[in-house]
Amino acid sequence: APAGPLAGRHVLITSGPTHEPIDPVRYIANRSSGKQGHAIAAAAARAGAQVTLVSGPVNLPDPQGVAVRHVETAREMLAAVEAALPADAAIFAAAVADWRTASEADEKMKKDGKAIPALALAENPDILATVAHLSNRRPRLVVGFAAETQDVVAYAQAKRARKGCDWIVANDVSRRSGIEGGVMGGDENAVHLITAEGVEHWPRASKADVAGRLVARVAAALGPMEAAS
Ligand code: PMT
Repeated sequence: APAGPLAGRHVLITSGPTHEPIDPVRYIANRSSGKQGHAIAAAAARAGAQVTLVSGPVNLPDPQGVAVRHVETAREMLAAVEAALPADAAIFAAAVADWRTASEADEKMKKDGKAIPALALAENPDILATVAHLSNRRPRLVVGFAAETQDVVAYAQAKRARKGCDWIVANDVSRRSGIEGGVMGGDENAVHLITAEGVEHWPRASKADVAGRLVARVAAALGPMEAAS
């Protein structure tokens, strides 16, 4: 049996972007690389957890010792997350597209030199809010991320309340973050951990170090496993 502070726990993590198809060759996406979410999955596995990682399209290897579910769209990500429950803790690091196209064209849209097409959008399900509001299978600890470009902590606090999660990890994804390659895509992050107790400002560190620190906090919050009776 695995040893470590998360031994016996199931931890569910989302990572990466989603791709929302426009037609067979085009999609809507964002700059998430999956580095932060995958680092959290690797750290949780090293801490002894059984880990399910639901990942959008990324150019990263599957982390060792982790069960990876590969998905493309937000709706597929939601289905994979629901199928992976129950979990003791769930950490939502994916950059899920808020909107998808209202319909997907069956054939490649042709440039005909006349009208420029307009994309009609539809709202995607909110995976974090859906899981946080579950009445029966809600993980004990639900952790969201907040990617903001201004008023990072204030917006993230509002997001924590609105989405109903326990903690929010807020990060600044603007060009002002000063992080090489940006927080989205780069190798470092500087986050604010927002809980019911308040806000902690964690110094800039590698995504692996942020992941290790977060996983240690998750293990402390879940506490030791109850002895089998
Ligand atoms: O992947 P990297 O390049 O390493 O970059 C890391 C990161 C910047 C993507 C990551 O640290 C991060 O901030 N992830 C959340 C990105 C995001 O989409 O944040 P948001 O503020 O839009 O969403 C808030 C929360 O709701 C997130 O936990 C998100 O996963 C979740 N969400 C959002 C929309 C949606 N339809 N479903 C969701 O579950």
